[in-house]
Amino acid sequence: MLKKTSMTTLAVVAGLVCASVQVLRGQDPLPQFGKNSVKEVVAAMTTEEKAKLLVGMGFNLDIPGLPEAPDDHKIPETVVGAAGRTHPIPRLGIPSITLADGPAGVRINPTRNGDNSRTYYATGFPIATLIASSWDSAVANRVGAAMGREARDYGIDILLAPAMNIHRNPLGGRNFEYYSEDPVLSGKIAAAFVRGVQANGVGTSIKHFAANNQEFNRMQSDSVVSERALREIYLRGFEIAIKESQPWTVMSSYNLINGTYASESRELLTTLLRDEWDFKGFVMTDWFGGSNAVAQMNAGNDILMPGVGDQTKAIVRAVENGTLSNQQLDTNVERVLNIILLSPAFKSANHSNQPDLALSAQISREAATEGMVLLKNDNSVLPLSAHAKIALFGNSSYDLIAGGTGSGDVNKKYVVSLNEGLADAGFELDPSLKQTYVSFIEDQKAKRPKPAPFMMPAPIPEMPVETGLIQQLANDREVAVVTLGRNSGEFVDRHVENDFDLSGPERDFVETVSKAFHAKRKKVVVVLNVAGPIEIASWRSMVDAILLAWQPGQDGGHAVADLLGGKVNPSGKLATTFPMSYRDVPSAKSFPGKELTGKPNLSRYPFAGKPAEAIYEEGIYVGYRYYNTFGIKPAYEFGYGLSYTTFSYSKVKLSTNRFQDTVTATLAVTNTGNRPGREVVELYVSAPQQKLKKPANELKAFAKTRLLKPGESQAVSFTITAKDLVSFDGTRSAWVAEAGTYSVNIGQSSLNINSSARLELASEMIVEKSRKLLGPATDLKELEPSK
Ligand code: BGC
Repeated sequence: MLKKTSMTTLAVVAGLVCASVQVLRGQDPLPQFGKNSVKEVVAAMTTEEKAKLLVGMGFNLDIPGLPEAPDDHKIPETVVGAAGRTHPIPRLGIPSITLADGPAGVRINPTRNGDNSRTYYATGFPIATLIASSWDSAVANRVGAAMGREARDYGIDILLAPAMNIHRNPLGGRNFEYYSEDPVLSGKIAAAFVRGVQANGVGTSIKHFAANNQEFNRMQSDSVVSERALREIYLRGFEIAIKESQPWTVMSSYNLINGTYASESRELLTTLLRDEWDFKGFVMTDWFGGSNAVAQMNAGNDILMPGVGDQTKAIVRAVENGTLSNQQLDTNVERVLNIILLSPAFKSANHSNQPDLALSAQISREAATEGMVLLKNDNSVLPLSAHAKIALFGNSSYDLIAGGTGSGDVNKKYVVSLNEGLADAGFELDPSLKQTYVSFIEDQKAKRPKPAPFMMPAPIPEMPVETGLIQQLANDREVAVVTLGRNSGEFVDRHVENDFDLSGPERDFVETVSKAFHAKRKKVVVVLNVAGPIEIASWRSMVDAILLAWQPGQDGGHAVADLLGGKVNPSGKLATTFPMSYRDVPSAKSFPGKELTGKPNLSRYPFAGKPAEAIYEEGIYVGYRYYNTFGIKPAYEFGYGLSYTTFSYSKVKLSTNRFQDTVTATLAVTNTGNRPGREVVELYVSAPQQKLKKPANELKAFAKTRLLKPGESQAVSFTITAKDLVSFDGTRSAWVAEAGTYSVNIGQSSLNINSSARLELASEMIVEKSRKLLGPATDLKELEPSK
């Protein structure tokens, strides 16, 4: 019998023989990423390597109480200022991939230490809400494609966009990064954007998944929300985007949903996202999100960003003590590797560092003109006549707010102000007024305290203009253009006072200018350079026209001038309601939530705020679903927007009035005015109420015509499927189309319906069955209409 030692010796000798045979044959004994299958590569990885891959190597935080980052965190970044990256594993040929924000463009540092040869500016595109207000998937696709090209050219593998949380409340600090209050509009626009980015071989990360609708204590806030509201409102847009565009990655959100961190929720990240929706990519946390690395791994949150050293150790320990199975760990690793296989870093595409910024600027300007919304235009004040003599008022006329702050900001090379845009378009502006504003703004900016990194600088007060000067300008100039500006950003929500509502001086200013100009029979145009809704109802009668320019990106001044001068006819419509007053907002009382006293901190980071909760007591009645169902008239409703021309709609025809599996709705839109223009056509469905209460109407589809000449018509058709008729019945965990008469309503806004047709459903249809998921532990008392 051979002794144990000699058996070992034999095994070692046999191993050496095998290895040397492989070497002789010129084979690498180790599997190599890309050459061998992902499974073979995973099999060759140590647990430490797997854990390392799943924990980013982005930040080296010097926070008391947190472990110092290991040395490999200090490997110099390839793209300076990117938000994060993954660990390479050179032994197996696995490269590091680089991730950069964000929704309005590629956020990286514009300059690099020791490199004076060139700059790394990226294009600042219009904010997401403007893009959605174009109601044009082609616009979203072009903007996505342009950002994808810049990302690729700067060596970025995954763009941390689009952001698509629902505008639950107009004060949401990051609403500007998000599309809309409606999930169908959000989902369709996001899908088109993702397809645009990914067509360049660069990935996206749709975020923040999910129910992350306020900034207040955002890392410890629990969104308490019913399963129905989650499914119909807060998850539906993600579902559409994932199914229609297969984003490479999803970013889980900071908040908890009904008591569990989104990043630690297996129901959210595995049962729903993978099993129900068939998502194939990987999930990453938001930066420092969640609290338990092992729970995150078990939930299917594959990568922890930006990565803190002890997370790797926690994962290794969990595998050793059995709280994380090798199978789960391998699944997470495989998902990440499958995406790295697609990445530019793996394909070793050399990046040029020379994106075509001029082309992007053109796309940014055009997109901006497509998404601005004309809210008011009495007696066709707009467009202005060529070379009109303008008195241009308002700080942000001279210092345009191109986009919001925080990770949704972009280091752009320039911002075209409205003053420059109007001057370039040939309008005559008052040089001394310009000088006064420019000096005032410079002086105020020099005086204000420097904001903390990523934080929004304090807004500067509106420059007071003496009444005498206003009167003199009213004599001398043909028209007054007054810009009102608002900014917002990550970490804080907006306020009602001096933000949603105009400040006293702003209101007085609008009034003084209006009185002075109207006294001379001159007109007053207001341009809103804002991130989201503000109160308009109380002052709109003072002015003749209002153009909602949003935050229109770096070429915004040119885009506004294109519309004011009539070079482009406005065609944007509201992606979010402008209520009469903040009091009317359905979540006015419960937003942004409250701090929970006596609860222990869930997060170990000092910047994580306090434990809090936001109770979504309005349920599914968010935005127009609330206003239209409860008969509350907004200042400007969802889907509203004017044009310099007019359109008529023919009667809508349905392919059948008895629903079986699909129906086609067809109509013709005609330009009945005297300027070329584009029209957004909106299709809403009103569903019968049997067991479930329903909103008065819900957007199901939309289309935008091409540029129609005066008198020209275009046929528009929509396909309605069973999923367009459903509501989510939580008691049966099913999407159900109830029997009865549906109304298909086609119109110019959610309140302005031009033509309707009846559609009968003979008997109830269970369109999809699900499992009970994610809901609150106890029944939530939600708002309901009385009938
Ligand atoms: C934001 C994310 C962003 C990440 C990386 C976080 O603070 O919530 O949207 O992608 O930072 O910059």
